[in-house]
Formats: sequence, C-alpha cells, structure tokens
Amino acid sequence: MKLECNINGQTQIYGIFGYPVKHSKSPTFQTYSFQTLGINAVYIPFEIKPEDLEKAVQSIKILGIKGINVTVPHKEQIIKYVDELSPEVKYIKATNTIHNLEGYLKAYNTDVVGFIRGLKEIEPNFSNKRFLVIGAGGASRAVLYGLVKEGVQKIIIANRTTSKIQNIIKDFSTLHRYIDQIITAITLEDIDKQLKNADIIINTTSIGLKEEDPELFNYKLIEPRHTVIDIIYRKTKLLKTAEEKGCKWQDGLPMLMYQGIESFKIWTGKEPPIDKIKNILTHG
Ligand code: ATR
Repeated sequence: MKLECNINGQTQIYGIFGYPVKHSKSPTFQTYSFQTLGINAVYIPFEIKPEDLEKAVQSIKILGIKGINVTVPHKEQIIKYVDELSPEVKYIKATNTIHNLEGYLKAYNTDVVGFIRGLKEIEPNFSNKRFLVIGAGGASRAVLYGLVKEGVQKIIIANRTTSKIQNIIKDFSTLHRYIDQIITAITLEDIDKQLKNADIIINTTSIGLKEEDPELFNYKLIEPRHTVIDIIYRKTKLLKTAEEKGCKWQDGLPMLMYQGIESFKIWTGKEPPIDKIKNILTHG
C-alpha cells in the first residue's frame, strides 16, 4: 500500500491554542484549505494550560510557527505576550489570530469580519436596523466593533452585569464620538419590554450551549419580523423558537467559518473555497 504523505522539510506549521481544544473544528477546515490551495502546511491543535501560555507564545517564535488561532480561555490573556495589536484588538481586548512575521508577532481579531460576513448573508442591508445584542464579553465586543464600524446607529446591549456595558461604552468612545447615543445599556430583565425596539437580536452569551439552559428572556415574545442570530454553533432554544415563529435566523457556523477564512487570508493572502468549507462544517 502506498502511503500519502506530503510533509517534508519545507512544511509550514500553523495551529490553534486553546484549553480544551479537542472539540475545535478549525484543524479540519484550515488543513482542508491548505490542501485545496496546494500550500505545503499543517494546522495542529495545541492544548495549552493557562499557566503555560507565555512560554507557548515564546515557542511560536522559537519553533517558527507561522500563524496561530486563539480560542477560549486564552483570547484575552495572550495579548500581553505579542509584539503588536491591530486596531480592532485594542478595542475588543481579545485576539483570535496571531501572525508570525519572522519573529514579530502581530495579533488580529477576525471574529469581527467573521460576524459581519455572516450577518450580510441574511441581512445584506443592516446599517439602518436596530440591534439588540445580549452579552458584554469578548465575543460581544467583536460583534459591537463590527456593527459600529459598519455604521449601525441603534444598539441595545443587555447583560447580566451592566457595568461591563458601561466599560464597553467607555472603551469605544474613541471609536465613535457619539457612542453613548448609539448604545443603550439594559439588564436581562428589561429585554422583554425592549423587543419592540429591535429588528435584529444577537446572543453572544454562553446561554444555550446546554439544552437545559434557561431562556435569556421570554422567547414567546419573539415576532416573525425579528432576525435572530446566536453565535453558538448549534440550533439553540432561541434559534428553534425563531424558526418556529418564521423568523430569519442564523447559528454560529457562518461566523466560525468566516473568521477562519479571514485568518487564513492574513497568513497566506489567499481565500479558500467557501462552498467546500461550508460543507465540511455542516456535515463534518
Ligand atoms: P466570550 O469571550 O465568549 O464573550 P466571556 O467574555 O466570558 O466569553 O463573556 C461571557 C458572556 O456570557 C458575558 O456577557 C456573561 O455575562 P456577565 O458579563 O454578566 O458575566 C454571559 N453569561 C455567562 N454565563 C451567564 C449566565 N449564567 N447568565 C447570564 N449571562 C451569562
């Protein structure tokens, strides 16, 4: 039997840092992208304990790893170990992509482009829409950065801890002069009565990851005119309700796919075939 092995002395190394990382879909579709475009590279999952993160970042330089995706729980902490932050990372305070330019590490956040490209698939003209974003963590900041950059004027943010929304308004004040007029901060309890003031509802919290998770608000109040996005990769209770009501809806797979494609573009300057990657992410 002939063994297929294309790895040789020229093979470039890419990978993902996470803890855990076994569930990650990135090694499969990034490897596929390299192979389809005939790029001599491998993409490896690296399970890095939080206490080893600094040494792991040093190893990117030492081992000559060309590019790294970063996932939970390292997206925020890893920032202090790289050499340069692109503008969006300074606002979001989280990175998911590191590019090694001959020993100089530059951090990006491609969740922004990932989210916006996914959103455009179901809402091509969204800048005049009114948004309700639930959550105020790192993923929410990436979504909000994208929306503000795209010119969205009305965003309600709901979060369990409202002080985190105030921090976002403060941090984004140099991104947009009137940010305090664009963003309205509310509690999760206030969502029900604010739904009438929103066209597009986005969940960026981890609520919905587990089947038994509670509702973030009264899902019976969702109307067919609402567009509903959950950045979790599966059809959550929120999305099932949206589907039953006849809403436009989207799960987290488009954002996952497009953030990966954007990272790949930063590393290689090339865009992999989207239809094939969609197929891998949907059917495994
Ligand atoms: P990520 O990087 O995925 O955004 P994160 O920064 O830890 O992760 O943010 C998690 C988000 O989910 C936050 O908005 C968090 O609310 P708090 O800011 O109040 O912590 C939200 N979240 C997590 N567990 C939650 C729960 N049980 N109920 C409500 N919101 C929750």
